Amino acid sequence: MSQKALVLESAKAPFVVKSIPIPKPGPGQILVKVLACALNPVDFVVQARDIFPNVTYPTVLGLDVAGDVEELGEGVEGYAKGDRVFFAAVYTLNNGGFQQYTLKTIADSDIGKIPPQISYSEASSIPLTFATAAIPLLSANPVGCGLNPTFDPKVSFNGEAALVIGGGTSVGQFAIQIFKYVGFSTIITYASSKHSDYLKSLGATHVIDRTDVSFSALPEAVKAITPLPIKNIYLAIIVAPEAFDAGYACLAHGGQMATANPTPPKPDDAEATGRKIYGVFASTQIEPNIEFGKAMWKNLPKLMEERIIKPNRVEMLIPNGLAEVPDALQRFMSGGVSGVKLVVNPQETT
Ligand SMILES: NC(=O)c1ccc[n+]([C@@H]2O[C@H](COP(=O)([O-])OP(=O)(O)OC[C@H]3O[C@@H](n4cnc5c(N)ncnc54)[C@H](OP(=O)(O)O)[C@@H]3O)[C@@H](O)[C@H]2O)c1
Repeated sequence: MSQKALVLESAKAPFVVKSIPIPKPGPGQILVKVLACALNPVDFVVQARDIFPNVTYPTVLGLDVAGDVEELGEGVEGYAKGDRVFFAAVYTLNNGGFQQYTLKTIADSDIGKIPPQISYSEASSIPLTFATAAIPLLSANPVGCGLNPTFDPKVSFNGEAALVIGGGTSVGQFAIQIFKYVGFSTIITYASSKHSDYLKSLGATHVIDRTDVSFSALPEAVKAITPLPIKNIYLAIIVAPEAFDAGYACLAHGGQMATANPTPPKPDDAEATGRKIYGVFASTQIEPNIEFGKAMWKNLPKLMEERIIKPNRVEMLIPNGLAEVPDALQRFMSGGVSGVKLVVNPQETT
């Protein structure tokens, strides 16, 4: 039996849609019929620059999968054919998301069942970017800020203020919701004002318009909103060094800044001023994130069901499924996508 897949034959090669065999699930694995796969900046960067030495070619990219369990490998428990699942995939030929059927090794730190009221495309917007916000904000020191490593519903930072730089990004939208979940009273975000109503619906209390206020003017704009010291910040913009500087300048002495940058800078005066910076590779399949990943995946479906964590707004790639992905990644990386997650349904590939 064969399927359609978007294959990278070799490093930096163009994407090509081709027929490849549907893999068989081995022990501990499930075969998933992929009904939605969200696009991420890293898909573009891996194709264009071959940044991960452990990727072997040919390979299939696509990290955020939602679909139906099609077949169970030997020894798999807790899943049945037809279950709706979502998870972060892996960049290999049999495990990537940009194909019609993919294999997933079952682990309790990185897969969940999709709540009934959430669509496949919505579910696919969550795994990687939720983890990118959640791990450095919630997990215990020294990995993260330690705001709530066990998802204890009693944790509350009531009366405190937080800042999300880049609230319009997929990651930033989850950072806003996480700050709300752990009870911050004031949640300021720096994003395009065209997304104000939406970001407020996620929990932002104030939106500073990024098209009007420069990064260097951000500390003053934050001070104009709240006299509270900003002890907790999430930085979702990592390509602009001035975004880091702005965040650091807003951060109270003794405060902590979580960032989407896996290797953030450490300013010279960080230790003397007690300011801590946390950045991680947002995989719950690798140490030191596995224990936190178990707590995250245990709680995430329930938080989605209760609408405490809402998926990103999605834009489906139509009409030709996987064949639309290369152009969509270009559009994405040239700044042509704002406040939505691009999602492909590989089954629509002709
Ligand atoms: N550490 C990890 O393992 C990991 C994992 C996943 C992602 N990441 C990184 O996290 C970052 C965010 O990823 P993402 O997928 O969430 O991004 P995204 O959704 O693709 O980001 C697009 C958004 O960026 C916003 N934006 C662009 N420039 C901005 C600026 N100067 N100020 C404020 N907002 C700005 C735009 O906002 P407007 O709508 O306002 O135009 C746009 O909506 C990326 O750099 C990504 O590489 C890291």
